[in-house]
This record gives sequence, C-alpha cells and structure tokens, in this order.
Amino acid sequence: MIKIEKELSKRYGEKIEVFPIWQGDYKDIYKFSLKNRALVVAVNKKKSMSRSYRTVLSNALQQWLFLKGLNVPEVYDFFEVGELLFAVHSYIDGKTYSDFKEHQLYLIGRIVAQLHSLTYQNRPYVKVSKKAYFFCGAIELLSRALRNVKNLITDKFYRTLPVGICHLDLTANNFLFNEEDVWLIDFDKQKRQPYAYEIYRFLKNDISRINRTLFIKGYESVRVLNNKEKNYLAFKGIEF
Ligand SMILES: Nc1ncnc2c1ncn2[C@@H]1O[C@H](COP(=O)(O)OP(=O)(O)O)[C@@H](O)[C@H]1O
Ligand SMILES: [Mg+2]
Repeated sequence: MIKIEKELSKRYGEKIEVFPIWQGDYKDIYKFSLKNRALVVAVNKKKSMSRSYRTVLSNALQQWLFLKGLNVPEVYDFFEVGELLFAVHSYIDGKTYSDFKEHQLYLIGRIVAQLHSLTYQNRPYVKVSKKAYFFCGAIELLSRALRNVKNLITDKFYRTLPVGICHLDLTANNFLFNEEDVWLIDFDKQKRQPYAYEIYRFLKNDISRINRTLFIKGYESVRVLNNKEKNYLAFKGIEF
C-alpha cells in the first residue's frame, strides 16, 4: 500500500493517501482523492503478457464507451510501473446487490442493450504500441479463430446472430446502483461474441421468469432482439 501511495504521489505531484476497497484474484482496488475528485485505482500485477494485454484493451474499451455516454467509470489515467499496471477510474458512488430488485433488472437490461448497440459494427480504436502486445494480439486472434470454428460446428445458430463486443462478466458485483441508475464496471473479460450469447449467459443463472421478462423489457427499450436471437434463446431454454 505504501508503494502504491508512493507511486501515485510521484505521478500527481502531491501527497496521496489510499484506502483499500477490494482485493481480487489479480487486482486490488483502492479509493483516493485527487484535486477534489473521488477516484479509484485498480492495481494489476503483470502476471502474464496476455493478461496485461487484456487490461490495456479493457481500459481502452471502457474509455471509448465513457466518451459515447455509457454509464461506466471514466478512465482517468493508465500507466505502468515495473511489474504493476495502474488503471485510475472515477469512483462511482453506488452499491452492489446480491439479489436484484425488479426495477434493477430493467436497468440492467437497458445498459446491456446500450453496450450492444454501441459496439455493433463499431470498434473502439486501440493503439497497440509494444511489440509484445502485438504478439499477444496475434495469439488472441488465433484463439478466437479456433473458437469460432468450434462454434460453427457445434452451434447452428452461431453464424446467423448479430455479433459485437460483449462484457461477458455480467455478475452482481459489476453493477453499481445509486437511487436513479446503474453503472457497469470491470470490462476485463470483454470479447467479440453474439449478443444473444451474452444475454443467455446472464439469464441462465437463477433469474426467475418474471425478472427475465423485466430484463428483456429493459433491453428491448433500447435494442430489439431479432427473430434469430429470440429463437436462439428459446433453443437454449431461456423463456421470458
Ligand atoms: N470505479 C469504481 N467505483 C466504485 N467502486 C468500484 C469501482 N471499481 C471497482 N469498484 C469496487 O471494487 C469491486 C471490484 O472491482 P472489479 O473491477 O469488478 O474487480 P474484479 O475484476 O476483481 O471483479 C467492485 O465490485 C466495486 O465494489
Ligand atoms: Mg468484477
């Protein structure tokens, strides 16, 4: 923690005090304030090249989404010191819920559809500067190609569904709620997938039929599912 305070103080030229708010498997999160702004810093260990690459990409995507007006934390700064990656985001004054209330399902549906609409046929521009990241990108592309081949063989719907960047980690602690709205955080697992697959993944986990209906209502208030997507969800056993 002292090391983190030291690095932040050095970077911003003033004494910074941090407060731990989260210890994750591979990143820790601290809250701090800078020039009257409430911020968080996620400190990632550069365990592997592909993990660093993912962190770079997810922050680039998040900032692109922020500029497009989606409710995500602004990426205030991003830098590396030795083995550590620092991602500084605006602090969202919200709460996570382990059980969503009904109106929250509607808001979740809406923000997921906003994400899907924004990324459809749109790619955030990411500057990949380092050679190493380039190699990771190549590996990522290769594994994506292999996965697509596998999907083509195993899933007859796959070819026909609208595809774009999905969040793919739509879990309770990645939605922050205040009284009015919801914020989506943690884009580390983002990937190009059929949007209906993301919806299937979210709805298959213990979401009651009533809540599924609310989610879909919120979703379709922004982006209407086409028949192929509806058939896919039915095929996967998701009724709403
Ligand atoms: N910008 C933020 N504002 C407020 N709280 C945050 C912010 N980012 C993360 N958190 C808190 O830290 C927790 C973990 O963050 P997250 O990025 O999801 O890490 P992990 O990848 O370990 O899941 C969140 O559930 C939230 O409570
Ligand atoms: Mg998370």
